[in-house]
Amino acid sequence: MEWTRKDLLSLYDLSAEEITFILDTAEEFKKVSERRVKKVPALRGKTVVNFFVEPSTRTRVSFELAEQRLSADIVNMQAAVSSLRKGETLLDTVRNIEALQVDLVVMRHSAPGAQDFIAKHLSCGVVNAGDGAHSHPTQALLDIFTIREKLGTLKGVNVTILGDILHSRVARSNMWGLLKLGANVTFAGPSTLVPREFEEVGVRVCHDLKDALRDADVVNLLRIQHERQTAGFFPSTGEYAKFFGINRERVKEMKPGALIMHPGPINRDIELSSEVADGPNSVILEQVTNGLAVRMAVLFLVAGCVKK
Ligand code: CP
Repeated sequence: MEWTRKDLLSLYDLSAEEITFILDTAEEFKKVSERRVKKVPALRGKTVVNFFVEPSTRTRVSFELAEQRLSADIVNMQAAVSSLRKGETLLDTVRNIEALQVDLVVMRHSAPGAQDFIAKHLSCGVVNAGDGAHSHPTQALLDIFTIREKLGTLKGVNVTILGDILHSRVARSNMWGLLKLGANVTFAGPSTLVPREFEEVGVRVCHDLKDALRDADVVNLLRIQHERQTAGFFPSTGEYAKFFGINRERVKEMKPGALIMHPGPINRDIELSSEVADGPNSVILEQVTNGLAVRMAVLFLVAGCVKK
């Protein structure tokens, strides 16, 4: 197929064929990072601005490294010391960035839809590195890439996503991608954090942990997002860990070999015990490794569609 999008904003927008094309392209780019010289000239002469208006470790470092491995020129903008602090609008800020003949803007923002908004106004490409509780497409792509790499397919695979679904852009992006590729998706956790509304798009909603774990081939755990908890969704983190945390005993209730995933950052011993996070079922660091290949693929594909 031919890639035709200058922006990557959400997996909701993509067809199964487009998602598969990104995954296949990422497989090729993964080989680059396994070479002695981990660099290709694919984005030589292109300029990428990384604009993170919300904290990030994995996504920011992964994008920056992906850009370096593709030989792009990079500018890392710090929102805290940008003119946003002086009252400049987001649109004015990114229009000024674009006036410097930038090819791509990789942006994280706390406002859902911020990247959709700027993409409509810019002729350079926009890659969404996470917007509020809305979308985190490259995280979902790397999760899906890891499942496909480990299990060989997405079709018919049972994926349980457990935790704070309500506030999770990772859950929403995984949901669209996994459903499009034929996986069975269960959202699990306390009823205050896992609304029934998701059933309308084909997700199984489950508030009973045993039930959610029994048939899972993959359990993807979500962080309890302290910064987004505006109401008491559960009595305490200790209580959450007791009823919904994954520990060695709960792994015994899963299928043998079920994959344990987590997008990070982990709240150790709250949603996931350290011995499981670092244990044989965990593919958490492989997710991080795969994120680099996925982001190289995304940057390469969208850059090819940015008009000069
Ligand atoms: N998974 C994820 O988005 O992590 P960061 O917030 O560290 O980028």
